[in-house]
Amino acid sequence: MTSSILLSGSSHPKLAQELANYLHITLGLLKTEQFPDGETQVHIQEELSNKNVFIVQSLAQQPNHYLMELMIIIDAAKRAAAKNITAIIPYLAYGRQDRKDKSGAPITAKLIAKLLQTAGMSHLIVMDLHTDQIEGFFETNVTHLHFEEIIKDTLKGTIHEKFVIVSPDIGGVKIARRMSQILNTEMVLINKERLNSFDVSMKLIGDVKGKDVLIADDLCSTGGTLIAAAELCQKHGAKRIIGAVSHGLFVQDAIKKIENSPLEQLIITNSIDNSFVSSPVLKQVSIVPSLAQVILKTDL
Ligand code: R5P
Repeated sequence: MTSSILLSGSSHPKLAQELANYLHITLGLLKTEQFPDGETQVHIQEELSNKNVFIVQSLAQQPNHYLMELMIIIDAAKRAAAKNITAIIPYLAYGRQDRKDKSGAPITAKLIAKLLQTAGMSHLIVMDLHTDQIEGFFETNVTHLHFEEIIKDTLKGTIHEKFVIVSPDIGGVKIARRMSQILNTEMVLINKERLNSFDVSMKLIGDVKGKDVLIADDLCSTGGTLIAAAELCQKHGAKRIIGAVSHGLFVQDAIKKIENSPLEQLIITNSIDNSFVSSPVLKQVSIVPSLAQVILKTDL
C-alpha cells in the first residue's frame, strides 16, 4: 500500500477505520467541515501526487450531503494529482430510480454516475446496486460486490435443504436466484405492486407451506416490503421466517416494526453506519474483508 492512501468521508468513519485496521494502514488525514451557510469544506492533509486514492463514503441517512461531500473530496484529490481515485460507496443512493417509469420522471442512478465521473472518480467499489444494469451507467471501472457471498458462511449454519429463498418482488429475483444457488435451496417469488411510498400489494408465486424461509432483498428502508413479505409467508403456512438484506437503511420506526413482525432474524451488512440501531433481531456481517481484497487487488 506504499503508493496508496485510504481516506474517509464523514458518513461511515467506523467502516473506514475497520478497513484501515484490516489492511494494517493508517487512515489519511482529511478534514471535513460545514461553512456557516451550509456549504461543505474539505481539506486533505496528505501528499496525493501519483498515488492511488481510496475514499470510503456510504450514501445513506443524509444522501445529498454525503454525495456532495464525496464529490468535493474527489475533486480535491484530482487537483492534488492523484493517479487513480477509487470511491468505495458501499451503499449507492438513488439506485431505485433507475429507469424512466413515467412521464416527467428522472433517472437518478444515471445522474449519480455522471456526477461522480465528472468529479474525477476513476473506479467505483460498490455493494449490491439496486439493479445490475446500473453498472452500465458508469463509464469507469465498477467492482460490484454481492452480499450473498459475504453472508453465506453465516447462513450455512441456519439454512437446510428445506429452506426456501423468497424474493419479495420481481426486481429482486436475481438476488434470490444467486442466494438459492449458493445455498442450494429452492426459491419462490412474490409479485409486489407499490401502491404509494408506504403501501404495497403482494401475491405469492410458489409454495412455502411447512417450510422455513429466507426473504432476501437489496435493502430495507421503512421495513414495509420485508414485513409484508414475512406476513404473506406466514399466512401461507411458512414456519421459521428470517430476512437478509445488504443495506439496512432503517428509516422511521422500521426496527420496531420488524421486531413486532413474523421476522425472527434480519441479517444485514455494515454497508451503512447502523451503530445507533440496536436490536436482538439484527445480525450484522462485516463487508471489510471483501472490500480489503478488492483494494489489495487494485493496488498494483
Ligand atoms: C424495492 O424495489 C427495493 O428492492 C426494496 O424492496 C425496497 O426499497 C424496500 O423498501 P421498504 O423497506 O421501505 O419497503
